Amino acid sequence: MTAKIIDGKTYAEGLRARIAKAVKALEAKHGLKPGLAVVLVGEDPASRVYVANKAKQTVEVGMNSWEHRLPASTSEKELLALVDKLNKDPAVHGILVQLPLPKQIDSTKVLSALDPAKDVDGFHVVNVGRLSTGQDALVACTPVGSVMLAKDALGKKLEGLEAVVIGRSNIVGKPVAQLLLAENCTVTIAHSRTKDLPQVVRRADLVIAAVGRPEMVKGDWIKPGACVIDVGINRIERDGKAKLVGDCDYASCAEVAGSITPVPGGVGPMTIACLLHNTVRAACAQKSVPVPEM
Ligand SMILES: NC(=O)c1ccc[n+]([C@@H]2O[C@H](COP(=O)([O-])OP(=O)(O)OC[C@H]3O[C@@H](n4cnc5c(N)ncnc54)[C@H](OP(=O)(O)O)[C@@H]3O)[C@@H](O)[C@H]2O)c1
Repeated sequence: MTAKIIDGKTYAEGLRARIAKAVKALEAKHGLKPGLAVVLVGEDPASRVYVANKAKQTVEVGMNSWEHRLPASTSEKELLALVDKLNKDPAVHGILVQLPLPKQIDSTKVLSALDPAKDVDGFHVVNVGRLSTGQDALVACTPVGSVMLAKDALGKKLEGLEAVVIGRSNIVGKPVAQLLLAENCTVTIAHSRTKDLPQVVRRADLVIAAVGRPEMVKGDWIKPGACVIDVGINRIERDGKAKLVGDCDYASCAEVAGSITPVPGGVGPMTIACLLHNTVRAACAQKSVPVPEM
């Protein structure tokens, strides 16, 4: 069997087009222009690229975008003061503080200071708690994007499927498991202490790999026909060249799986699209207007 390739780049483009339409409708009907503020502290080159891409895509869908670039020497107090100002600004509907933060700043303290209604990254404990108790929540973007791709590949319904999530981080593994539970999957969360991981993965109709170990999941771990969503982004060197690979060994997994996300071009492009999606939802909730179809 050769797996169907799940094209996250095309799916994300379509999602952004639907978001742009929703933004236009909100402005026309309610005079509401959603706005996202992104805060970057320091000069981390990867973070600078992420933040620039977020700002570009925010503007492209017709939303307001603000970038706050602070020096690496910024104190926790200064950053908390900026968060407070953004929390109070009615034009700002979503706030994202780019991680990692410099070591003099406690990131948990900063994320807790965000207004949960504006926490479009979905990392605030209020949103995490709301997700795990089945209430409406702003949910972390990469997990939302991963589940959207799985639903698209599997014809919308995930109910009753055996899902195995590999990884239990707060930013991917745990929220993705909660989302799958809400879709009525039977969910197993595997991690570094799981015994006989290949055997656990073999029972999955849906595998979500979020480990951070290049090409760890092999084709003979995959149940024939399963859907494989590879969240991993790992930089390796092969034949003297830098290369991006996922947590799944794409070549061997694609021979067995029914569908699989490539790396790059799978889950990666979904993250910013879902951030914009969350910002529209946050704006609608703050202004008590219905969320348009997206
Ligand atoms: N936009 C995107 O596409 C996006 C966004 C976020 C992350 N990512 C990528 O997704 C991957 C995971 O990110 P993360 O932040 O969740 O990583 P993380 O915080 O390092 O968590 C990794 C998880 O994998 C588990 N693990 C490690 N080695 C394992 C092994 N040998 N067998 C089974 N489980 C193992 C760890 O288990 P323990 O808990 O037992 O240590 C942990 O729960 C990374 O490659 C990251 O770059 C991509």
